[in-house]
Amino acid sequence: MMDVLLGLQWGDEGKGKVVDVLTPDYELICRFQGGPNAGHTLEFENKKYVLRSIPSGIFQGDKVNVIGNGVVLDPALFQAEIEQLAASGHQLTGRLKISRKAHLILPTHRLLDAANEAAKGAGKIGTTGKGIGPTYTDKTGRNGLRVGDIECNFQEKYEAHKQRHLSMLSQMGFSVDAAKLAEDEKTWFEGVECLKTFEFIDSEHFVNKQLQAGKKILCEGAQGTMLDIDFGSYPFVTSSNTICAGACTGLGVAPNRIGKVYGIFKAYCTRVGSGPFPTELFDETGQAMRDNGHEYGSVTGRPRRCGWIDLVALRYAVMIDGVTDLIMMKSDVLDQFETIKACVAYKVNGVVTEDFPYDIDEGEVEPIYTELPGWQTDMTHMKSEDEFPEEFNQYLSFLEDELGVRIKIVSVGPDREQTIQRY
Ligand code: GDP
Ligand code: IMO
Ligand code: MG
Repeated sequence: MMDVLLGLQWGDEGKGKVVDVLTPDYELICRFQGGPNAGHTLEFENKKYVLRSIPSGIFQGDKVNVIGNGVVLDPALFQAEIEQLAASGHQLTGRLKISRKAHLILPTHRLLDAANEAAKGAGKIGTTGKGIGPTYTDKTGRNGLRVGDIECNFQEKYEAHKQRHLSMLSQMGFSVDAAKLAEDEKTWFEGVECLKTFEFIDSEHFVNKQLQAGKKILCEGAQGTMLDIDFGSYPFVTSSNTICAGACTGLGVAPNRIGKVYGIFKAYCTRVGSGPFPTELFDETGQAMRDNGHEYGSVTGRPRRCGWIDLVALRYAVMIDGVTDLIMMKSDVLDQFETIKACVAYKVNGVVTEDFPYDIDEGEVEPIYTELPGWQTDMTHMKSEDEFPEEFNQYLSFLEDELGVRIKIVSVGPDREQTIQRY
């Protein structure tokens, strides 16, 4: 069986932490979409790690980790990640396999990302600047360069892609710093050499054979459902399918192989970059969430926008992903709040709706809130649900009723140990 773990909000829900916690139950951990736009944080034994392209299953035993075909890889950033891990004693050769069909992010993809953003002006997406959009555009435009290409006439293929990109950049009036590009290319090609020290595989065959042999697989989503290219708050989204179906296309596994779908969310809500965020708070409550939760981007360091939990968006995500098990993160961030609010519906142009609408332009959506009492108790040292305060249990039951799915795990702090299983 293949289980899938997905972010249900706008990313940074805590996917990395939970994949690490769940890894002992699995034999294979796979990434299926996204790239170094992701920043997945893990904390254990007083150490903190941030992973971008490498799956979060690398720290628990000798589990095999796979970078699937749906992922986009930047060799330069990949090498930096590998070297950082090696420096802290984590050697991955032999237990990290890479799909030949994963697409490569070229240095010029990053420039195109910057050029696209500049061209959008005030309407910019606020991307991570990692070249994600242009790489997926090349993929669907049938112009991509893949990991498998490294094995044959690579330099020639690379040059053709680079020239095409340079001519696009020139058409956009974007001035390219040739010296900087040459430097980036040097690092990039060193990264390609680093990539080559890992096994390139036809991951769809590998993963399906593992399933056939009865092995348990966990798929690690990146970004979140509300950043999905089809169902997110378009155009303020990323360029891949972050939803459950993305695990099928991003690994070559049939839908009927999927077992559990873990849907992970924060007890409140955050977003980085531009785009609508109906429950966003601009007051001291939002600032308290940012301070308590250290809500600053793990990739770009940007302050994350903070607000109350949005059940209209969450219900939508649960539906699209077919979530079977919910996981609530960062409840400790609200530990001292007197009251907790939850958005149960939107008022859009005077009409109340519980369904996530086509367009949620900023300013036109009024969230309708239910208020609940806060628990005002430090929960960070709790080990079992028996210790949960009454008000916290009330919040959990309220969310379960609203979402129609049980909350099986509650996280009360960033450390691996601060994780409580329920039921
Ligand atoms: P991901 O992208 O979904 O893996 O999430 P990020 O790592 O970008 O962001 C989650 C942040 O919250 C990280 O800094 C984690 O260390 C931290 N974190 C995870 N779970 C908890 C929790 O329960 N409480 C607190 N306070 N922090 C948490
Ligand atoms: P993880 O996996 C939060 C956001 C960017 C921007 C939009 C498009 O750590 O949850 P992109 O660079 O993908 O073209 O940017 O998506 N974004 C994320 N926000 N967490 C992430 O990943 C994100 N990856 C992309 O901020 O708004
Ligand atoms: Mg993150």
